Amino acid sequence: MLGFQFIALGIQALSTVFTSRRAVAFYNPTLNGGSMLDNAGGGGGEPLNVIVSGLSSPPVLTDEGFLHYAQAIGFSFECLHQHLGAPQSANLGDGNGWVNQTVELRQDFGDDDLGTCLETLVGGNHFRLYRQNGTAANSGALFLAVSQEEDLEEGHTIIPDGYNAGRDKLVANAIGETSHGHIKYFTVAQNLTGLLAAGSEGVNHGIATDGVTVLLTVKIVN
Ligand SMILES: *[C@@H]1O[C@H](CO)[C@@H](O)[C@H](O)[C@H]1NC(C)=O
Ligand SMILES: *[C@@H]1O[C@H](CO)[C@@H](O)[C@H](O)[C@H]1NC(C)=O
Ligand SMILES: *[C@@H]1O[C@H](CO)[C@@H](O)[C@H](O)[C@H]1NC(C)=O
Repeated sequence: MLGFQFIALGIQALSTVFTSRRAVAFYNPTLNGGSMLDNAGGGGGEPLNVIVSGLSSPPVLTDEGFLHYAQAIGFSFECLHQHLGAPQSANLGDGNGWVNQTVELRQDFGDDDLGTCLETLVGGNHFRLYRQNGTAANSGALFLAVSQEEDLEEGHTIIPDGYNAGRDKLVANAIGETSHGHIKYFTVAQNLTGLLAAGSEGVNHGIATDGVTVLLTVKIVN
């Protein structure tokens, strides 16, 4: 009886080890069959040019918590909703294979502020979000494909240099202290090279990038 209990406890402990999130910033998707380019549908992909570290404060890595943070750095639900369009997919090398961008992001968006949103669409920045949470690489990190678009009259295409520009704009807004509602954040950025190749090979619309992925570590400070 006692022996059985020990075995049951052992199995529980093992499954905790293998399914719970590990304390690492992220795992390199390319080392386990994944890619740092998502699949945009037409043969190319958007670079995953921002990673929100798995070592960030845990609430920031939840869907709701990240949306709150996104508002602190200048994004709004409505605008994200307008921008996302057809879903793209990414393979983060975590054993989940190719997974659509997190749909919860879109479902939470209301239409209340559509007017305001349409204004901000002019020259808008946007991102798609993927979570690295498969059991083979469960960092909990969020991988973002960030890009800057033309204004509406240009038909919503990515601007020349739009991946670098979108990333840099997001990062500039994110670093240091920011806040939304009652929550204050402190964000540190680090440039990573060697994850993405510089250039335009495989990149959606053939837009070249500098190959830099920025790692953001976001801490809630109050
Ligand atoms: C991904 O999105 C596409 C287009 O909406 C949909 O057809 C497909 O079923 C989705 N895949 C998964 C795994 O949800
Ligand atoms: C992993 O993340 C996806 C996308 O956000 C989510 O739908 C799924 O429930 C998560 N899986 C686990 C085991 O938490
Ligand atoms: C990170 O890379 C960007 C884009 O190449 C560059 O503008 C920025 O100065 C770099 N930051 C640091 C700290 O190296």
